[in-house]
Amino acid sequence: MPHARITGVGSYLPDAILTNADLESMVDTSDEWIVTRTGIRERRLAAPGETTSDLAAHAALRALADAGLEPRDVDLLVVGTSSPDKIFPSTACITAAKIGAACPAVDVMAACTSFVYALHHATCAIEAGRARTVLVIGADALTRHVDFTDRTTCVLFGDGAGAFVVQAGDEQGVLAIDLGADGTRGDVLEIPACGAAMPASEEVLAKRFQFIRMNGQEVFKFAVRVIPQSVKAALAASGLAVEQIDWLVPHQANQRILDTIADRLGLPHERVFSNIATTGNTSAASIPLAVDALYTGRNLHPGSVVGLVGFGAGLTWGYALVRWTKEAR
Ligand code: ACO
Repeated sequence: MPHARITGVGSYLPDAILTNADLESMVDTSDEWIVTRTGIRERRLAAPGETTSDLAAHAALRALADAGLEPRDVDLLVVGTSSPDKIFPSTACITAAKIGAACPAVDVMAACTSFVYALHHATCAIEAGRARTVLVIGADALTRHVDFTDRTTCVLFGDGAGAFVVQAGDEQGVLAIDLGADGTRGDVLEIPACGAAMPASEEVLAKRFQFIRMNGQEVFKFAVRVIPQSVKAALAASGLAVEQIDWLVPHQANQRILDTIADRLGLPHERVFSNIATTGNTSAASIPLAVDALYTGRNLHPGSVVGLVGFGAGLTWGYALVRWTKEAR
């Protein structure tokens, strides 16, 4: 059976920075509250007219260049996103057109777990012999769905994209993946309207149902309960112990969630990567953005064991255990 391994990494953040000080002038909040409760100091905003597929295309081209490949070499393109450019066509199709790839292209939607789900699709296609070079992108412009009058959510989110090139080979890069979903808890974190259940209307807009609604405390409790379980399940499947993880790369949702997960797993905090202070929660983009930062910082080497942890609306969760096979850039 062919194995899946990561041969290229790239990411992209839009230029505009929204600081906590900026938010202080928009809603009743403070830099001190945001930093203490979340660890976030600033986040990036997509420019007017810049869409999720634009972010995705930038990250994708950087990942392909890192792998030494051209868009025509890709035989499957998967985009994880929950802020698609349009309901259809898929953001994957739009991204493929923007970069010049002519291959099957599909979106995967599992909110902030989308990237781990997309990586799972890529790994399955490669291991089944159905694809040899898969472009896996996590991209979100969730600030387009944020109510900037709601202080409980608007301080959290930022925009960005990250991508992996995943290729077939003899070396096993993706060691194990554990995924989960609990659809009975969809109301904990949702955008209630503008889908088929509640189409856009004046009433929807008046009630601001087109924006993200979240029970933050429930998300927090869910994440710190399921993630350690998921990490342990994938470790058991691969025969590795928690001490063998060189880097845990969790979805960057809240620094306190990251710290609690580290404590519950008995992992030193310095092995749990965080760039949330400068990115905020970029949803599907946060894991590949973080991996690219680690890789660019020369912290990943052939043989490094990296755990990628996602969790989010659905509720969904996922953990991918990866052995790094690339030389430091
Ligand atoms: N500034 C100042 N005060 C605020 C703010 C703000 N930005 N937001 C809320 N508050 C107030 C609340 O109104 C409340 O005031 P009250 O006591 O007078 O009622 C008080 O602060 C405490 O509010 P809590 O909700 O209890 O605050 P908590 O400590 O739980 O922190 C937070 C809130 C940061 C959202 C936290 O619950 C959290 O991070 N949860 C996880 C969220 C998350 O990860 N979401 C993303 C999932 S990703 C995805 O799938 C899209």
